[in-house]
Amino acid sequence: MKIAIASDHGGYGLKQKVLDHVSARGFEVIDLGTNSEESVDYPVYGQLCGETVASGKADLGIVICGTGIGISIAANKVHGIRCGLCTSVEMAHLTKQHNNANILALGGRTTLENLAIDIVDEWLDTEFEGGRHKRRVDMLDNM
Ligand code: RB5
Repeated sequence: MKIAIASDHGGYGLKQKVLDHVSARGFEVIDLGTNSEESVDYPVYGQLCGETVASGKADLGIVICGTGIGISIAANKVHGIRCGLCTSVEMAHLTKQHNNANILALGGRTTLENLAIDIVDEWLDTEFEGGRHKRRVDMLDNM
């Protein structure tokens, strides 16, 4: 499985940690940048990750900015993307189980590294439940 990962400068430090962790778990990772703490614009990176997942070049994506808010808004502008911003392991579980989120958003300045890694693992390891949730996800995809 291929995972695309992108951040702005506010998420750069956490991106590198998440990238190392996901690679160590055996996933193939596509690093879409940014590559330093120099200021960049989060819409560029959210859109890039969204397009990489929506086109099928990656199966899933992870986006990180300072809060996770701006970059998740950008990713969600791409048709076919369901990006969930998570600040707890429970949210990570539910955004895969109910929303079938194909991109996870994290806040590099708002979520501690250990919790962020637990969130990533929970999201990766949870299956979409389907059933009544499929109808609702289909509604999202048809907007
Ligand atoms: C960048 O300073 C900051 O605004 C950005 O990382 C993010 O938090 C936006 O939602």
